[in-house]
Amino acid sequence: MEKLNFRQTDPAKLKDNLIRLIASDWMLVTAGTKEKFNTMTANWGGMGYLWNKNVVFIFVRPERYTFEFIESNDGFTLTFFDDRYRDALNLCGIKSGRNCDKVAETGLTPFFTGSGYPAFAEARIVIECRKLYATLLDRNQFLDAEPLDTHYKTKGGLHKLYIAEIEKCWTR
Ligand SMILES: Cc1cc2nc3c(=O)[nH]c(=O)nc-3n(C[C@H](O)[C@H](O)[C@H](O)COP(=O)(O)O)c2cc1C
Repeated sequence: MEKLNFRQTDPAKLKDNLIRLIASDWMLVTAGTKEKFNTMTANWGGMGYLWNKNVVFIFVRPERYTFEFIESNDGFTLTFFDDRYRDALNLCGIKSGRNCDKVAETGLTPFFTGSGYPAFAEARIVIECRKLYATLLDRNQFLDAEPLDTHYKTKGGLHKLYIAEIEKCWTR
């Protein structure tokens, strides 16, 4: 990581506003192995503290190709970029890795963390996460029908929630 100019950081010391970082800057969720991995853009999720651990939580629809890689591995990375990479994040949020090579199309440079998780060298923040808990959202548990009507009426299944421990965090 040092040769990529990343410095390991306490995630509690990140200076970014976490809502803005996730909702507006967006992130790549990347999972898999050196042999095969995939990445997708996400902006639903959060970071916080649970079970005395620093955690992230993300929401992934089972029809995403990336879902298969999150399911079949112990962890994943979240990467955050500056605005120069907006086109790359747009592409990773529109196209599926089932039908294209996102690395070739975006020009992003993959590397692998100490735990062997894929991430991208152009990121300004890399967070390595180990899955702790996962559950599919349940339509019977919505206390307000508005999100259900807005997001799950016609297209696709309900998201799967993953809560994952932040194992390592790097910044520039
Ligand atoms: C800004 C933005 C945010 C997104 N957030 C999420 C998300 O939080 N969860 C999700 O399942 N899909 C999200 N998506 C959709 C996936 O990125 C998209 O379906 C992608 O093509 C999936 O790629 P894959 O099939 O290669 O995994 C988002 C897309 C965009 C553009």
